[in-house]
Amino acid sequence: LFVNASEASAKKIPETLFGIFFEEINHAGAGGLWAELVSNRGFEAGGPNTPSNIDPWSVIGDESSLLVSTDRSSCFDRNKIALRMEVLCGGEGTICPAGGVGIYNPGFWGMNIEQGKTYKLVLYARSLGPINVSVSLTGSTGLQLAATNFVASDVSNWTKLEAILQAKGTDANSRLQLTTTRKGVIWFDQVSLMPTDTYKGHGFRNDLFEMVKNMRPAFIRFPGGCFVEGEWLRNAFRWKETIGPWEERPGHFGDVWHYWTDDGLGHLEFLQLAEDLGALPIWVFNNGVSHNDEVDTSSISPFLQEILDGIEFARGDRDSKWGSVRAAMGHPEPFDLRYVAVGNEDCGKKNYLGNYLKFYSAIKSAYPDIKIISNCDGSSQPLDHPADLYDYHIYSSANNVFASAQKFDKASRNGPKAFVSEYAVTGNDAGKGSLLAALAEAGFLIGLEKNCDAVEMASYAPLFVNTHDRTWSPDAIVFDSSQAYGTPSYWMQHFFRESNGATLLSSTLQPNPSSSLIASAITWKDTEDNRHLRIKVVNFGSNSVTLQISIDGMEVNSLQSSGSTKTELTSSNVMDENSFQVPNKVVPVKTQLDDVGEEMDVVLSPHSVTSLDFVL
Ligand code: AHR
Repeated sequence: LFVNASEASAKKIPETLFGIFFEEINHAGAGGLWAELVSNRGFEAGGPNTPSNIDPWSVIGDESSLLVSTDRSSCFDRNKIALRMEVLCGGEGTICPAGGVGIYNPGFWGMNIEQGKTYKLVLYARSLGPINVSVSLTGSTGLQLAATNFVASDVSNWTKLEAILQAKGTDANSRLQLTTTRKGVIWFDQVSLMPTDTYKGHGFRNDLFEMVKNMRPAFIRFPGGCFVEGEWLRNAFRWKETIGPWEERPGHFGDVWHYWTDDGLGHLEFLQLAEDLGALPIWVFNNGVSHNDEVDTSSISPFLQEILDGIEFARGDRDSKWGSVRAAMGHPEPFDLRYVAVGNEDCGKKNYLGNYLKFYSAIKSAYPDIKIISNCDGSSQPLDHPADLYDYHIYSSANNVFASAQKFDKASRNGPKAFVSEYAVTGNDAGKGSLLAALAEAGFLIGLEKNCDAVEMASYAPLFVNTHDRTWSPDAIVFDSSQAYGTPSYWMQHFFRESNGATLLSSTLQPNPSSSLIASAITWKDTEDNRHLRIKVVNFGSNSVTLQISIDGMEVNSLQSSGSTKTELTSSNVMDENSFQVPNKVVPVKTQLDDVGEEMDVVLSPHSVTSLDFVL
């Protein structure tokens, strides 16, 4: 490998090259990063018609002691369904079973309740008579981990009841129970249980947030791909339905990935997530096109205003109409929204281009600096419409993804740049996240680095999977209610954490082209002004390789300084995966690198990604 360290042959890598794509898929947000523990907290998931399915709520007691149903009596106008519980026992002559009767919510495949931690419970209740409701967090063995009582003599109007519950034990499969031993009718609505220690109190589950933060993403594309489109427009993500007090949000059924979300993780929370990650938000909005229906371009005008309002909500000042709504929600300062994407994978659909052009001119005339991302692929031929970036997605076999490192070699350097907003190895090569997939993806990303004058951004997809709703495999981060691990593809992305804004040096592999090796070299300065050199190599083959490295244009002495390391992602079997049982089977391993210099030999393991790091 010949590395030429001269500035003359170097390229500046965009500050935004590597980021993340968050989609509400696989319960990534609801039951995942969004820390709300109650599933279907407003009883809306069963639909607007009553009686409705209250799943996953269940009844404690039998029909001789209580009748549970739903009606449309909620005090919240946009989500009218409330739960009605008629308690038949507990009156004269009928004693309720020990422990009472009522309802319980198992959360998203179990609530993770941890000893010593506190949980904020909020619920709305109404009754014609006095109430005495026992609230408990109960472990899978029936052990009560926390409890309180709501006793009130007059809740004839809907009343907000709140409590902080402190757990005296740990159980990752707990549930929330609301029970009573008193005869009467009680309505419940908007029952929420949140851990109090979410990231900065912003509602993000700490362990998952930290895993994402550790990727150091430059941007976050949200709230999804297909999730934004919907199978049908009526089920698409509509930002205005996801803001304001959580109790008033209607929630919606994501019909592509088949689950209900209360939209606690709404437009503001996504922007907040970006800010907390130090990442630029990239809002993907629906442009009037779903998988199965489309708004005709002649009637798209109201949708334009909807999106302009959403941009104003994000970045308008606090005196603007929508900026003031944001301010009222607790974020007076504008968010740093610089990019929007018009739709997802919709290029070629009947009204895409017509609608796109309307959105393009409406947004550019109101916000000339906002960069607009088209769904149409401009990698092989110029786009026939104006855009700042074009979206490119690749899901394929390991060989295809590895070979796609060259995909942008011939792409235009003059027109819009590529946003590879979704890439991953899928199918048999990937399983639920194999080393093989990660190697191919690492090779692909090295190809993107080398083409950083044609590619401005890239993100892996999907980011998250709740192991109980694995709709899409593989994913970068796997979790359940209490634990999480990174797949090899997650760890592979750590090799690129310093690439954003770095300098790409010219590097050449000989013999060239090599079918199973790909390499790049970057330099960057850290916050203390120390200069670093990193050489990354993917050995996609099954043989170990002794790589002779020759570095030209860099002081020998600087290379010999201490602290040189070799970090390797590999495993004995290329199909190895991580798991809850063995979460660190395939993770980067760092060792000291000796005998460094302008000329050096480094042994690359079969099937490996290697990073050689030098402090200059
Ligand atoms: O990442 C999963 C899905 O793949 C995205 O929703 C969509 O854009 C693509 O088809």
